[in-house]
Amino acid sequence: MVIFGASGDLATRKLLPTLYNLAKKEYLPPDFGLIGLAVQPHSEDEFRERVRASLKEFASAPDDCKFCDWIIERLSYLPGNFREAETYARLKPLLAQMEQTHHTTGNCLFYLATGPDLFGEIIRNLADSGLTRENGGYWRRVIIEKPFGSDLSSAKALNLQIKSLLSEQQIYRIDHYLGKETVQNILVFRFSNGIFEPIWNRRYIDSVQITVAETLGVEQRGRYYDTTGSLRDMVPSHILQLLALTAMEPPISFQADAVRDEQAKILHAVQDMSPESVLSRAVRGQYGVGVVDGQAVPAYRNEPNVAQESHTDTFVALKFSIDNWRWVDVPFYVRTGKRLKKRASEIVIQFRRAPLVLFRETPVEQLSPNLLVLHIQPDEGISLQFGAKVPGPMVRIGSVNMDFKYVDHFGAEPSTGYERLLYDCMIGDATLFQRADMVEAGWSVIEPVLDVWRALPARNFPNYAAGTWGPKEADDLLERDHRHWNVPF
Ligand code: BG6
Repeated sequence: MVIFGASGDLATRKLLPTLYNLAKKEYLPPDFGLIGLAVQPHSEDEFRERVRASLKEFASAPDDCKFCDWIIERLSYLPGNFREAETYARLKPLLAQMEQTHHTTGNCLFYLATGPDLFGEIIRNLADSGLTRENGGYWRRVIIEKPFGSDLSSAKALNLQIKSLLSEQQIYRIDHYLGKETVQNILVFRFSNGIFEPIWNRRYIDSVQITVAETLGVEQRGRYYDTTGSLRDMVPSHILQLLALTAMEPPISFQADAVRDEQAKILHAVQDMSPESVLSRAVRGQYGVGVVDGQAVPAYRNEPNVAQESHTDTFVALKFSIDNWRWVDVPFYVRTGKRLKKRASEIVIQFRRAPLVLFRETPVEQLSPNLLVLHIQPDEGISLQFGAKVPGPMVRIGSVNMDFKYVDHFGAEPSTGYERLLYDCMIGDATLFQRADMVEAGWSVIEPVLDVWRALPARNFPNYAAGTWGPKEADDLLERDHRHWNVPF
């Protein structure tokens, strides 16, 4: 495995600890070798010590870094500029040497843990130096991480460029949400239980809500975020992945393309928004000063590397419709934002009400609807809300929950969320990775919103206080339909 950007944040906090967790579970082969590439002129020993330190800090290893040596013994460092051919000329013999010393048999996974502006150039350099050629009975794969472009045309251009150098089977586009156990469980929950699929449609489901709420602000990422905003940052990737897994048809098998075909199909079925419907179906927000978890926090415009007059959205809420037989007339409401009241990601399936309630004291409109909530994070689990009789001589109905919590049944394993993704890439299973057509379909869905928002910059920012559930317009979006957002507990 070769990591470009080996001393960066992603490698330090996620990738190296992931390798540690995989090594610990014996999911890495004994003939594994690792080359870290970065611009910094570290010596090999210095780099090894940095890796040891980051493993200790981030691998959440209660075992005293027992597997650190396993990784360090297999690690080499190559300083170099990723834009220069000379770096690749040095990488080639290093890989050949690793084949000898670690018996790596020529298979190679290149992880581009760099800014997206470098993806095209690194892949071109790898291809030009012959490092992506697979003609010796071994494989060569490249992992890239979102953002895959910043709108539909740049995503298409990136796909075109990469696909002129690599075959689609060699490209693994990571959306780290698909590495989360609870996200993978959506498919298992839907398709391995006989009781849910028959009611998973417009006859029984009233609406679906997807919330991805963060309490964090933009931290040190102001420069990236201020040119991106929450719509681009979260919706075409993470949010639409959650929507696709919730709404897709059962695949004909669990082969990568069978699953991805169904996901792509549902993204294509999301109804196009006209400019008028963007105005009524899309809400944007930006946080002002406020209090989050008891701490006073600054407004977005006062975060480091953010423009004083910034019009960037830090919150978005949207109402989508899906044009197919299963979902017609079932609204899918999604919202995501920074500096919200609580960190909580969940998918809420709201079922239709009973057609008639026979208890005279309780009109049907006053019954709480049945909700099935898939809690993605932080308290992973599934709960079902239904009505039960409150004990006593009168017939009164109260809302109660049946709860399943992952931790109660399966315990809590330290994980970065990348373990399954890296492992799958190594064994050549692309099911959890995004295909080019899925990426483009995701951007197509939000393109009309981007166009309208570009043409009409928001005039009322900041429009929500940090530590709340976002702007009032997001509540209005549902209230107009006589619904309201579920409050995550
Ligand atoms: C990233 C976004 O892709 O996902 C971040 O760029 C966001 O802005 C993050 O904070 C959320 O991921 P998670 O796993 O913390 O929910």
